[in-house]
Amino acid sequence: MCGIVGYIGSEKAAAPFLLDGLKRLEYRGYDSAGISLVNSSGHILTVKSIGKVVHLEQKCQSIQCSDMYAGIAHTRWATHGAPSENNAHPHLSGSGKFAVVHNGIIENYSELRKRLSMAGHKFVSDTDTEVIPHLIEEFYNGDFAAAVTGAVQQLSGTYGIAVLCADYPDMMITARHGSPIVIGLAGNANMVASDVTALVSYTRDVLYLNDDEMAIITPSHVEVRTINNVPVTREVSRISWDVSADGKGTFEHFMLKEIYEQPESVGNAIRGRIDLKAGNAKLSGLDLTPREMALINRIVVAACGSSFHAGLLGTYYFEDISGIPASVEQAAEFRYRNPIIEPNTLVLPISQSGETADTLAAVREAVNKGAIVAAICNVVGSTIARESGRGIYLHAGSEISVASTKAFTCQVAVLLMLALLLGRNRRMNHETGTELSQEIMRIPSLIQEVLKQAPTIEAIAKKHANAHDLFYIGRGCLYPAALEGALKLKEISYVHAEGYQAAELKHGPIALLDEHVPVVALCNDIPGKDKMLGNIQECRARQSPVIAVVTGDDDCCAPFTEDIIRVPASSRFVAPITTVVALQLFAYYFAKERGCEIDQPRNLAKSVTVE
Ligand code: G6P
Repeated sequence: MCGIVGYIGSEKAAAPFLLDGLKRLEYRGYDSAGISLVNSSGHILTVKSIGKVVHLEQKCQSIQCSDMYAGIAHTRWATHGAPSENNAHPHLSGSGKFAVVHNGIIENYSELRKRLSMAGHKFVSDTDTEVIPHLIEEFYNGDFAAAVTGAVQQLSGTYGIAVLCADYPDMMITARHGSPIVIGLAGNANMVASDVTALVSYTRDVLYLNDDEMAIITPSHVEVRTINNVPVTREVSRISWDVSADGKGTFEHFMLKEIYEQPESVGNAIRGRIDLKAGNAKLSGLDLTPREMALINRIVVAACGSSFHAGLLGTYYFEDISGIPASVEQAAEFRYRNPIIEPNTLVLPISQSGETADTLAAVREAVNKGAIVAAICNVVGSTIARESGRGIYLHAGSEISVASTKAFTCQVAVLLMLALLLGRNRRMNHETGTELSQEIMRIPSLIQEVLKQAPTIEAIAKKHANAHDLFYIGRGCLYPAALEGALKLKEISYVHAEGYQAAELKHGPIALLDEHVPVVALCNDIPGKDKMLGNIQECRARQSPVIAVVTGDDDCCAPFTEDIIRVPASSRFVAPITTVVALQLFAYYFAKERGCEIDQPRNLAKSVTVE
């Protein structure tokens, strides 16, 4: 989703930094981009373009930027108004004195726009953002910071902004409410970004802004204060993990690279966290004593997208392994339906990015209701991780492809370790704990086995790539895997795919089956397999082609199909992980055969920072 970068520092460095920063944020998904630079004589120059950052870069080549010390830039994912140059950021005030880039949504923009229009302001875009520079101009009486403060106090909704003022070529102001802002400190220059990925190759020393804070930034100084002008002392955080996009290496797409990284990323997620001798897991970030854990009487997971599917699987683990009642909710539904949260409820927000607006809102609701909140995030220092106060990091490394792969499998591995820990804290004995610990340790090599099946999976995917509708069916722990497999396919191939509980198929969806609608049937050798074979028969009776996932050399599906994907034998808890890896490959090759843009699918964003 939208990305912000800002720079203030040495001559000639502003434009190259900003364009590079935008490229590093491309993975988030966007449809237009723009840049504003201010020169020492107080003139703001703005360039915008539709489509990719390289188009913007080409347009910028003619710019004379020898005395440009400061600038802001943006990638926009359209919300209010179509992708167009007029709607692209930065947006300018009427006089052109102020330029603003903005992430988030200003909910009272039409009221503000009406008021400003009556006062003579002219608007040139359909966006909610454009009211911000106009509002700043309205409040301006020569004091840049006071004008920004006055303006942001009028805004409702969410914002992360960076602002330039032509009268202050050596100053940039940023502020946030609900959309992340991080400030990079690079000695002779200071930077702003909505995502640390844009900064990390320039500096690892950063300051995170909290909600309702702003920063006044010059090349040599950063002053943080609240938007009500209360000074704030903020510690510098050091980024110690690798957030750089390492490039695709020999892989054609980031998605394929990330699929292949899973033995290593899951290995990193479990490293040091399994105590084989004790048959238990150690999750220090959880920061709960055995007594505090024993008091947990309910677990509620709040998440979106693939993280929601991981959370659904987590609820199977918590009930089956730990013996704790558990449920999962789409984060926005959790947030807005006034959920019942008791003091001993453990709320688990799950988010790869740690910035998803709906999940963040759910965290705030849960914190406010007094729950124990522990985040499962990948991005270290992200807002959800910080506001939850405790949690478990995935250590999956940066995930660039919009469709989540390695973050999903790491989330599941973390949830399985958490279920083990809570189970051992209750009824689970040492022997069962040791068995499950050993099973968790095997996950990386089991994934490796699945990756060896890639040529077979590719051939099956190519064979079915003309299909327009697919169903994915599974039972028990494989039902969340069916949902995730279907999501992967629709995200990157734009083909309609639905995941269903196998037993539910005949309560409606079966009406859609015919020889043109393949069914991906998850028929691994786990409890429920016999019933699954019955469901496959029902699909075949309607002439649906079946693509079966089975365990090892099991020939149970041979009578129904020759399209069989084989995953190694494992417990029912680990089977969804190996199965999802196979389904990721299936979706990848299916989309590739259809010529789709795999890493940045249309309309999707990596990090959804609006509700
Ligand atoms: C977007 C992404 C999905 C992701 C979801 C939740 O929709 O395209 O891949 O699963 O957001 O993101 P999160 O960062 O909270 O896990």
